[in-house]
Amino acid sequence: MHDVRIDRDRLWNSHMAMAEIGATPGGGVCRLALTDPDKQARGLFVSWCREAGCAVRVDKLGNIFARRAGSEPDAAPVMTGSHLDTQPLGGRFDGIFGVLAGLEVVRALNDAGIATRRPLDIAVWSDEEGVRFRSGTMGSGVFSGRVNLEEALAMTDESGLSVRGELARIGYDGPEAVGGFPVHAYFEAHIEQGPVLEREGITVGAVEGAQGARRFRVTVGGEEGHAGTLPMTGRRDALLGAARMIDALNRVAFTHDPHPVITVGSIFVRPNSPNTVPGQAAFTIDSRHPHAATLAAIDADMRAACAAIAKADGLTLHIEQTSDSTPVAFDKACIASVRAAAKALGIPHRDIYSGAGHDACNLSHIAPTGMIFVPCEGGVSHNEKENAKPEDLAAGAAVLLRVMTEWAE
Ligand code: GLV
Ligand code: MN
Ligand code: MN
Repeated sequence: MHDVRIDRDRLWNSHMAMAEIGATPGGGVCRLALTDPDKQARGLFVSWCREAGCAVRVDKLGNIFARRAGSEPDAAPVMTGSHLDTQPLGGRFDGIFGVLAGLEVVRALNDAGIATRRPLDIAVWSDEEGVRFRSGTMGSGVFSGRVNLEEALAMTDESGLSVRGELARIGYDGPEAVGGFPVHAYFEAHIEQGPVLEREGITVGAVEGAQGARRFRVTVGGEEGHAGTLPMTGRRDALLGAARMIDALNRVAFTHDPHPVITVGSIFVRPNSPNTVPGQAAFTIDSRHPHAATLAAIDADMRAACAAIAKADGLTLHIEQTSDSTPVAFDKACIASVRAAAKALGIPHRDIYSGAGHDACNLSHIAPTGMIFVPCEGGVSHNEKENAKPEDLAAGAAVLLRVMTEWAE
């Protein structure tokens, strides 16, 4: 095992090649789920995996599994992976690092001529970010039985295009059932997306768990009218009501201790015209907290705050929950393996808690799961400026290689 070498430059160059797909003028990446750039990135990943000797399968939700065979081909695999999709103004490392670290593990084992007993799977999970279809960690959610397949396939984007239709359009409506096979263990490498590791000069975080998150889509209904002739009194302005709700939701965050994070990041207005009083406004809510009870309390407070404003302003209100992810604690043995691997490799490490959500959170409900964080510059993520160092990515991949091969014996 000591002869296996992560190739830092190969790993970095693979990131840079992927970053060209959906590259934004600001130096980031826009690769929304099930769009043409997503298809292109999938194609490149699949071609690299085939070159590395992996067998590739695609399930009915477009999740991709690239398998490096084990000497016991039918044994449950040790799985790694993450996502290829990004935010609209996303960075070059969120998601893709976990996928390419898995590929680098396979390439390094191939170079060293090492076989493992169990197969190794690299998973690409469909629609992790949940930007376009608003749910988040969709592919891993269905795989782990937490989200219904038919409901996921029926989700639509703002222009009415469905997951089912878009999967078929990009050619990733695969033949395999979603999930239903045992996973021996799951490890996901990811940039931290926060400032802790960089600030402390530490290279690897052994992730203990992640906070829970609930997402909602709120639709506010009023009545359209002429901007010039409808007096200010008596208007039923849906956007004005939504704006008041957004302010009230922000205040809800400060009434709980420790503070949750509550974000309204996406808004739609109809008819979206400068000289029509808006008749409909819809927005998303993303709320997160480490404790399940507080998440439920925030949910109730948010609904009450929106309902009071709708009532006072004579507006209709519909709140749909689009995702629910409970706070998770990762598997103690997996966390210990990450710590031990970092220690054995002489890589500075510490335990860390994740503020972001990950596919690993879903996998943790069906398999022993752990995560490996590496620093990112300034802790900046979901931002075109997101950056990471080649040597830190390589260190994370080296830890991944060690834990995967350990669990594969
Ligand atoms: C994933 O990017 C998340 O929203 O935490
Ligand atoms: Mn991510
Ligand atoms: Mn993300």
